[in-house]
Amino acid sequence: MKVLILPDAAAATERAAGLIAARLRARPETVLGLATGGTMEAVYARLIRDHRETGLSFAGVTSFNLDEYVGLAPDHPCSYWHYMRRQLFDHVDIDQARAHLPRGDAPDPKAEAARYEAAIETAGDIGLQLLGLGLNGHIGFNEPISSLSSVTRIKTLTQSTRNANARFFDRPEDVPRLAITMGIGTITRASDVLLLAHGAAKARVVAAMIEGPLCASCPASALQMHRKVTVVIDREAAADLRLRDYYELVHPDGREAEI
Ligand code: GLP
Repeated sequence: MKVLILPDAAAATERAAGLIAARLRARPETVLGLATGGTMEAVYARLIRDHRETGLSFAGVTSFNLDEYVGLAPDHPCSYWHYMRRQLFDHVDIDQARAHLPRGDAPDPKAEAARYEAAIETAGDIGLQLLGLGLNGHIGFNEPISSLSSVTRIKTLTQSTRNANARFFDRPEDVPRLAITMGIGTITRASDVLLLAHGAAKARVVAAMIEGPLCASCPASALQMHRKVTVVIDREAAADLRLRDYYELVHPDGREAEI
């Protein structure tokens, strides 16, 4: 696991967006795994700026988002499809026919989950998977004790996740109880994983993910088994890491190792 510690959230965002942009320039036909949540908004804003100012292109990209709320149609303002259009898709040259999210309003959500998993496999799996981190250690909507080899399926959201996401809804009770999410097994099949987290509230879970035991109680700890994970965090989110000095020695200011 490569741990890059940046001075603040803005620098961490810049670093993460730079890694994504470099990947797209090197391999324009990347299958991108995309994430939602507050952390990603600034990353997408940075990528849109890159698109406008430097011509960064998404034209060759196929994308699969991690998750969607069960019951929300794509045009619902709180759906992740709506989020993705607002935060990224409507502002870059991605072919929206190749930008995939699970259908939250599918009549048979279980069948939709199976269809989505098969579509990811058919695309040859994810090349670069972008991840945020839930306060309880979830990635996608894989809540604690999710199977570490799970595939796309329906998950019941914990109350803490519903509370954390209530800010995106008019009323807390409007947050759906179920979501369709890629599984931990789906996510860890990606060739490269890039996880971004910042702020003091994430310090405890960042330490659990990187240095804690590998266990389903902290789903993100499954990334310890992956060969190519880059974690980009700011100093606040790094505060509880026991080996923080070591990570900063290897990657001063979040730069690549000088080997
Ligand atoms: C939601 C998403 C996750 C995301 C998490 C973190 O629960 N399903 O994919 O990582 O939010 O959100 P934030 O970036 O707002 O802290």
